[in-house]
Amino acid sequence: MSVLIETQDLQKYFKTPRGWLHAVDGINLKIDEGQTLGVVGESGCGKSTLGRAVLRLQDPTGGKIFYEGQDLMAMNKKEVRSMCTKMQMIFQDPYSSLNPRMSIWQLIAEPMLINHMYKGDKEGLNKKIEELMDTVGLAKRLTHAYPHELDGGRRQRIGVARALSVDPKFIVCDEPVSALDVSIQAQILNLLMDLQRDRGLTYMFITHDLSVVKHISNEIMVMYMGKCVERAPKRELFSNPSHPYTQALLRAIPEPNIDKRGELQVLKGEVTSPINPKPGCRFAHRCPYVRESCLADGVELQEIAPSHFVACPYSSEING
Ligand SMILES: Nc1ncnc2c1ncn2[C@@H]1O[C@H](COP(=O)(O)OP(=O)(O)OP(=O)(O)O)[C@@H](O)[C@H]1O
Ligand SMILES: [Mg+2]
Repeated sequence: MSVLIETQDLQKYFKTPRGWLHAVDGINLKIDEGQTLGVVGESGCGKSTLGRAVLRLQDPTGGKIFYEGQDLMAMNKKEVRSMCTKMQMIFQDPYSSLNPRMSIWQLIAEPMLINHMYKGDKEGLNKKIEELMDTVGLAKRLTHAYPHELDGGRRQRIGVARALSVDPKFIVCDEPVSALDVSIQAQILNLLMDLQRDRGLTYMFITHDLSVVKHISNEIMVMYMGKCVERAPKRELFSNPSHPYTQALLRAIPEPNIDKRGELQVLKGEVTSPINPKPGCRFAHRCPYVRESCLADGVELQEIAPSHFVACPYSSEING
């Protein structure tokens, strides 16, 4: 399998009145063609910023991004724009990301028209839109409907059709099912998995909910305050979660027989600020296993099993 997307030490900092906010702070990732990387972490840990930075929708502060070995950071604005037929994004809230004044036809046509596809070929465009609606499971009778006339699941299907319209290879799915009812979530996840199988798509699938990526990912990266704290093939991550934060996230997956007090316990402690972060482990203040050295030393990812990386020097002791 060949690597489609790679980042090296990717950083995105935001200037704030209180200093630099390290939203994405040195992320290294690789996604093979046709595979899905799940990116998981709590609100504000930098998932969306990472997704946008990888597509250069937001310019990174530092680091490198490669698409099929091409250096995206070396490209100028025009070259980056031309990449948007290869790399697309699906957003969390299909309501606010769709222009309410545009019909489904217009919404699906828009990315193609912006990219000068089907120029002067109305018939070809109509046919393509019909095909796309069929692919994502939107009835033909809805062609001239408006987003407000549809439920959340169908609106997200428009989002998927828009992303697919330019025939991309890579799609960043930013919490695409988080705003949907559980039953509808499964339908959209199945649709995304079917599309991946049929078209060989590569996904970065962002979510705050580990149970959502359980089905769709090949590999999972857990983020905490701009950093990757653990990365592993999916099965390995679920069977051998090794970073205290990953363990806390797993405990937070609601299961009927889990003690609610256990869930609350993991959220104890002060959340440190991502603005001018101090050296040392960023999870230290909430970690039940914290030691003095955790506050002082920077933590690097270590490979504790094949392709399983953990940013905690004490993980084997904790889990041993
Ligand atoms: N344009 C911006 N200017 C300043 N700070 C920003 C900006 N965008 C994001 N941030 C900050 O960067 C951090 C990461 O935000 P981001 O939206 O990437 O998190 P997230 O993991 O996607 O969260 P959520 O699960 O809520 O979507 C947050 O602290 C956020 O406040
Ligand atoms: Mg987000």
